Amino acid sequence: MSFFIPLLVLSTTTLAQLTPSPTYSPPSATAGLASSTSSPNTQWSAVLGNSLYFYDAQRSGRLDQGTYGNRVSWRNDSALNDGSDWNLDLTGGWYDAGDYIKATFPMTFTLSALSWGALTHGGGYDLAQQTAYLDGTLRWGFDWLIKAHPSNDVLFVQVGSGEVDNAYWGGDENIPTPRPGYPVNSSSPGTDAWASAATAFSLGSLLYTPSISYNTTSSSAPPSSIADANYAATLLSHARALYATANTTSPRQTYYETLGESVAAYASSNWNDDLCLSALALALATNDSSYYADAYSYYTQYRLSGSQEVWNWDSAIPAIYVMFAELATARPGLAVGAGLSTNLTGWQTEVETYFDRIVNGNLRRGYLTRGGLLYFEGDSDEASLNPAVAITMLMFKYAPLASSSSKTESYNNFAHGQLSYLMGDNPMNVPYIVGQHPNSPQNPHSAPASGGDNIQAIRTSPQTEAHVLYGAVVGGPLSDDRFWDWRDDWVQTEVALDYNAMIPTLASMQLLNNTADPHYVDVQAGTYSIPTDPPCDAALPCGGGGGGLSAGAKAGIAIGVILGVLLILCGIGFWKRESLAAWWRKGYRRPKV
Ligand SMILES: *[C@@H]1O[C@H](CO)[C@@H](O)[C@H](O)[C@H]1NC(C)=O
Ligand SMILES: *[C@@H]1O[C@H](CO)[C@@H](O)[C@H](O)[C@H]1NC(C)=O
Ligand SMILES: *[C@@H]1O[C@H](CO)[C@@H](O)[C@H](O)[C@H]1NC(C)=O
Ligand SMILES: *[C@@H]1O[C@H](CO)[C@@H](O)[C@H](O)[C@H]1NC(C)=O
Ligand SMILES: *[C@@H]1O[C@H](CO)[C@@H](O)[C@H](O)[C@H]1NC(C)=O
Ligand SMILES: *[C@@H]1O[C@H](CO)[C@@H](O)[C@H](O)[C@H]1NC(C)=O
Ligand SMILES: *[C@@H]1O[C@H](CO)[C@@H](O)[C@H](O)[C@H]1NC(C)=O
Repeated sequence: MSFFIPLLVLSTTTLAQLTPSPTYSPPSATAGLASSTSSPNTQWSAVLGNSLYFYDAQRSGRLDQGTYGNRVSWRNDSALNDGSDWNLDLTGGWYDAGDYIKATFPMTFTLSALSWGALTHGGGYDLAQQTAYLDGTLRWGFDWLIKAHPSNDVLFVQVGSGEVDNAYWGGDENIPTPRPGYPVNSSSPGTDAWASAATAFSLGSLLYTPSISYNTTSSSAPPSSIADANYAATLLSHARALYATANTTSPRQTYYETLGESVAAYASSNWNDDLCLSALALALATNDSSYYADAYSYYTQYRLSGSQEVWNWDSAIPAIYVMFAELATARPGLAVGAGLSTNLTGWQTEVETYFDRIVNGNLRRGYLTRGGLLYFEGDSDEASLNPAVAITMLMFKYAPLASSSSKTESYNNFAHGQLSYLMGDNPMNVPYIVGQHPNSPQNPHSAPASGGDNIQAIRTSPQTEAHVLYGAVVGGPLSDDRFWDWRDDWVQTEVALDYNAMIPTLASMQLLNNTADPHYVDVQAGTYSIPTDPPCDAALPCGGGGGGLSAGAKAGIAIGVILGVLLILCGIGFWKRESLAAWWRKGYRRPKV
């Protein structure tokens, strides 16, 4: 604990947290039919504003505690005893997805993605007058993460029991208890969780540092007024402590290996990539080459080169490649100080080998759907948009650093194609952001937004979602590009912190570039229809979803039965995305790096 005492001394010069002016509330979905007639583009500003609003809807704890109060009138204070089992205050933070678990690992991924995007493309928040909401969103997350890290080696990785929570579908006033907290610590290590939190704190710290420059591109600039030296110092102290703990505690192992089934929702496959990325992010935040030396040594020691994996909470490698390339451009002294070559050409080769596989259709386990969505087998089977949107952000971020103008163009084009797909340029004519357009999904799998309380009838009770969960990206269509807007189909309609994590950056990039409207303004209202045959996915296994069975559903029924039996054998409820994800992750899905 003594580690943090010096920070209190600094508190005299704290800058005020930002107050939104003007205040923003999402417009109704019909606003998505009108072309923007001004600059900055009002549609991209709305995408940015709504995608941050989603994080307000996910808030836990006392809702009047933030910098600008509660914007989401239908949400209530909740989970006010979190942490009491450890005599700690672990209230606050965000619910992870459509339920009421607070999950640290995907949350730190989210904070990292938001902060890293705002570091290089923050100016769009200013253009959209969303900087105060970015500040409020980041502080809501980081303030909780600080509470979840009460001493150097202790990090709470989850609050709430998956078992208890999976049995509940209802509003935020009757969230079931107990809601235990699950820590890792020096005798029960969680290298991946410590490292991933260190990454988030590092990137957040740099973003809040006054007058920083991190010029990877000509448009690099964090939002103009977010700087707060004291907050930056606080975040950095947590980053250093977490990294030191991750780097020195043995055995190094994942928090799932330590805690087992209780945290199975986000059981990561390994900790190597997280440790490498955290060293790199700390190098960036501190300008200290010893962290860079660690990052490079882990990159070689763990053979992280040549990966073809996605970028998500479980897979940091693509971000490692892009960050190395950024540092070769913006912080060449880090490598030199570590006695290494800056090697921009080498990092370009690493990134471009990966991206060229994607663009040229040479991924070992990936392809474009007929409608044009980048699809990673396995990872995209639940929440198909997430891998595509993550790569989109990375490609746009990296494109200006590419080794040739033709590669720059190729990555920009590919990324624009994915972004357009997300925004409604797809066979369904659905922009996959709730409340953005009349064709947007109407039935996100969110217990609080749904207004329902009957876990046996999630799809139909009530018929109409009670509240519009503005700004939420849903899981997305199946590999045949078809989308069933069914509330019980968590594969397609669930929402989550990490699904939204790239959207503010993508909107900010478009605002900075002053590009044309998002595709959805050209989509006519009502031009989509839900397929009449039932879907076939992990939430609704083939044949089990609806009335009559299609030929395809019948053909798939055997697989569905086997899958169902396996799930039951595993003792896992199959109506929540996390459970199946956990089942995959028990060594089944992802090859160890
Ligand atoms: C918040 O409380 C109000 C008043 O009791 C209730 O009508 C509403 O459904 C609650 N919201 C949620 C998300 O449960
Ligand atoms: C360390 O973490 C383990 C696993 O969560 C927990 O059982 C144990 O009580 C913790 N130890 C301390 C001293 O808090
Ligand atoms: C980086 O950007 C800042 C702000 O635009 C600018 O003042 C600075 O000169 C740039 N630095 C480099 C090295 O280009
Ligand atoms: C991290 O641990 C390695 C040994 O495992 C050590 O060589 C290195 O110096 C440590 N990094 C820092 C920044 O202390
Ligand atoms: C980082 O350190 C190098 C010296 O090693 C210095 O030249 C450079 O200006 C520093 N950069 C920042 C952003 O502090
Ligand atoms: C530069 O990067 C290339 C490609 O990743 C690698 O083969 C080479 O060893 C690196 N060179 C140095 C001096 O680090
Ligand atoms: C910015 O504009 C350039 C030139 O039109 C384009 O190639 C690039 O893709 C745009 N970047 C983003 C992030 O949209």
